[in-house]
Amino acid sequence: MAISESGKNFSYRILFERVFDPIAVHRIEDGNITFVDINPAYERVMKLSRDNVIGRKFHDVWPNAESKWSGIIRDCLAQNRTVHCVGESADIGGYLEAIAFPIPTDMAAVIFLDRTKLKRSEDDRRKYQAQLRELAARLTISEEDTRRRVATELHDRIGYDLICQLRMLREIESMNDAENIRPQIRSLIANTERIISGNRSLIFELSPPALREAGLNPALEELAQNILEPHGISWHVITRGSAEEYRADDSVCVILYRMARELLINIVKHSGASAVNIIINRKPENITVAVEDNGKGLQGNTKGFGLFSIKERLLALGGNLKIISEPGEGVMAVMTCPLKMKKGDILHDDKNTSGR
Ligand SMILES: Nc1ncnc2c1ncn2[C@@H]1O[C@H](COP(=O)(O)OP(=O)(O)OP(=O)(O)O)[C@@H](O)[C@H]1O
Ligand SMILES: [Mg+2]
Repeated sequence: MAISESGKNFSYRILFERVFDPIAVHRIEDGNITFVDINPAYERVMKLSRDNVIGRKFHDVWPNAESKWSGIIRDCLAQNRTVHCVGESADIGGYLEAIAFPIPTDMAAVIFLDRTKLKRSEDDRRKYQAQLRELAARLTISEEDTRRRVATELHDRIGYDLICQLRMLREIESMNDAENIRPQIRSLIANTERIISGNRSLIFELSPPALREAGLNPALEELAQNILEPHGISWHVITRGSAEEYRADDSVCVILYRMARELLINIVKHSGASAVNIIINRKPENITVAVEDNGKGLQGNTKGFGLFSIKERLLALGGNLKIISEPGEGVMAVMTCPLKMKKGDILHDDKNTSGR
């Protein structure tokens, strides 16, 4: 008998008998794993009777068992150490965790823990998380569409009306009989010019024309110029791989653009950097945008919404965000996304543009 019913082992026997989780005790006989003992929980959960199991080979009792379950018993006995394994069990129809640990003499006790509910809820959690990510990515793209529509309306309607109004005001100003109202007309002209310029920057903010018309690379250059230059931060855009050859989907470009914007704003807000490199690397299978600064680096707490939302949106597109940073040595944030369209070989011709 595996666990003695006498002396100090008596209490272990009670534990073995009463515990709710299935336990089996095995040893190797003639090269085969055999059953030495099973507890009542094993009988109940595995629907086996102790009398039909003791002394039989593992593979006779469980002919269809996945190899991982016998594997941990062999490893445990061969290496005389605790071995752990989790996985689906077709025989039990659930997800089990098994821990095999050596017991004297030359035996392995295996305890099974039913992780089915935990696994299902973990699977559900992952599924919902993936759906949330996808939703967030879709929202970014649809937000971009809305921004574009509003920007187009502002440009085509209000922008056009304002230009017509300015033209008329200038005509009135040049008339001889407008002498006594000229100061008011000049003030109206100045106001209209101010509104036109405000409207232009609003259109630009809403939907950068460069992203729409010229693509991601020029749009990122424009972004660096607008965000970094006012703060005296020099910048450098390095491109590898041809944008024509390795075309990224519009949705990928929009997300990379918006996320790069967040990284550049972070640099202005947190880094104290004086120089920034933006490296856009297109390959047949993916596009990488790395934003590197020479500031103070990440220090301790990095909890915020910006980096979290970049990570989530990239994951939704099948990409990822890697942050490399040492205190005092700046931050390198690398965003990678699949292109979704690929053809040709990798190009290595570097084209550089810089500002300041
Ligand atoms: N380039 C950087 N250099 C130094 N620290 C940075 C840099 N980028 C981010 N951090 C640090 O990481 C933290 C998290 O950044 P994150 O963008 O997630 O949040 P945040 O900028 O603080 O707030 P928000 O939610 O408005 O973006 C920042 O608070 C800052 O401490
Ligand atoms: Mg931020």
